Amino acid sequence: MGEEINENILNTGSGPANNTGVEEVSEPADCGVKYYTLEDIRIHNLSNDTWLIIHDKVYDITTFLEEHPGGEEVLLEQAGADATESFEDVGHSTDAREMLEQYYIGELHMDDRQKKKEKETENTNSGESSTSWTTWLIPAIVATVVGVMYRYYMLEHKSS
Ligand code: HEM
Repeated sequence: MGEEINENILNTGSGPANNTGVEEVSEPADCGVKYYTLEDIRIHNLSNDTWLIIHDKVYDITTFLEEHPGGEEVLLEQAGADATESFEDVGHSTDAREMLEQYYIGELHMDDRQKKKEKETENTNSGESSTSWTTWLIPAIVATVVGVMYRYYMLEHKSS
């Protein structure tokens, strides 16, 4: 009984649309998170329509371009793409990170996160395999040369 009364009070307080649940569409919080693919984001690369991805989150920074202490040029270079690396390279302050929140519009689609990770692993793996190549190739060459020299030495020894 008590719970019912509390619910009624809450509903009246937050407006009539909440009773129907219809207004949730305009609220991106929690369950209403929007997911964007890399394709969706890529087209927002203009000075009057600028989106960025930072740490798999999508930001509409159109209104922030002129305010950015680092200038709008650097932001436009990254527009419509993943700016995580450049954002982190600069070593932005906690203030800068908190500022991000007000431009948040959604999340990078899970499929595209997966693709990005796969690419990263591919790169690391190919780097690793080239290292392992050199690590076994040099000893192998040395072993062959020593082997050949030993054979010659033995042959010469036998014939003399
Ligand atoms: C929407 C995302 C971004 C926000 C909210 C933001 C915010 C800020 C803020 C508040 C500063 C002042 C210093 C600080 O507090 O750290 C700053 C400086 C700077 N930002 Fe950003 N930034 C963003 C994205 C970027 C990106 C993607 C780049 C690079 C491509 C960048 C490059 C710089 C540079 C070079 C400075 C240094 C300016 C200076 O010290 O003269 N920022 N940014």
